[in-house]
Amino acid sequence: MGHVIVFGNQKGGVGKSTLSVLYGLWLADVHRQSVCFIDLDTQGNASKTLRSSDTGEIAANLFGPKRAIDACTHADERQRRVSLFAASKRLADVELARPEEVIPAFKDAVCGLEERFDAVIIDTPPALGLRMSAALIAATRVVCPIELEEYSIDGVTDMLKTVFGVRQRYNPRLELAGIVLNRFNAHSARQKAAVQQLAASYRDFVVPARISTRSAIPEALAEGKAVWELGKSSAREASLEIKEAFRVLHQRMQMRSLVDAQGVTA
Ligand SMILES: Nc1ncnc2c1ncn2[C@@H]1O[C@H](COP(=O)(O)OP(=O)(O)O)[C@@H](O)[C@H]1O
Ligand SMILES: [Mg+2]
Repeated sequence: MGHVIVFGNQKGGVGKSTLSVLYGLWLADVHRQSVCFIDLDTQGNASKTLRSSDTGEIAANLFGPKRAIDACTHADERQRRVSLFAASKRLADVELARPEEVIPAFKDAVCGLEERFDAVIIDTPPALGLRMSAALIAATRVVCPIELEEYSIDGVTDMLKTVFGVRQRYNPRLELAGIVLNRFNAHSARQKAAVQQLAASYRDFVVPARISTRSAIPEALAEGKAVWELGKSSAREASLEIKEAFRVLHQRMQMRSLVDAQGVTA
C-alpha cells in the first residue's frame, strides 16, 4: 500500500504548496505512480497549478457523509496519473465543524483513496487547526518544509510537537519523513547559522539536500507545469536540487515502511 503524505507547517510561505505539487508530479513522472492530490487550503494555490488534473471532486466533501467518488478520467497520460480534489471556500467551514464528526469522516474517505491510488498527497493550510489535525490523523508520513528565516526554528518545534502528539494519541503509523530546507541561500551567514542550529536539534530529521530560491519554480507552477518541464537552462539547476531532495525523502519513506513491515513480521 502507498503512503498518505502530508506537507505541513503552520507557517505560511515556506513551500508547502510548491513542494507538495512538485512531489506529486515527481511521483507521477519519475515513478509512474497514480497520485491523489488533496488541497485543504482555501487559497487553492496547489489546485490552480494542478487545474488540468481536476476531477470535479472538491476536498471539502471528504469531511462530509460518505459518498461514492467518481472514477477519474483524463485525457493525457500524466493527467490520468494525478487526480485533484480541489480547494474551495467551503473548506473554511470545516474549522467550525464538530471534530468528532469531521475527523473520522475525513480519515475514512482518505482510507478509501489510499486503496485506489499509489500515493495520496495532502497540502495543508498555514495553521494548526482542524484540517491540519484531520490530515495528520489520516496520514502515514509528514514532510515539513521550512524556510531558514527568523522564527522558523521555533515554528518547526511547534509543528513537530503537534506531529508527535498526534502520533502518540491518535495515529501510531504517522512518521516524520523529513524537514526540507527550502529557499536556501548558501551566501547568507544567517541561514548557515540557522542550519547548524536546526541540525543540532533535529539532525535525524533534516533532509540533507537544499532547495535554493529559483524564479523558475514559481514560473513553471504558474504555467501548470513541473520545473523539469520548463525548457530553460535556469530550470535545470532547480530541477536537480528538487529531485535530489525528493529522492532522499522517497527513500526515507520506503525504508521506514520496510522497518514497519519487519516489525510486523518479527
Ligand atoms: N525554492 C523556491 N524558489 C522560488 N520561489 C519559491 C520557492 N519555494 C516557494 N516559492 C514561492 O514562495 C511563495 C510561497 O510558497 P508556497 O509553496 O505557496 O508556500 P506555502 O504553501 O507554505 O504557504 C510562492 O509564491 C512560491 O511560488
Ligand atoms: Mg500553501
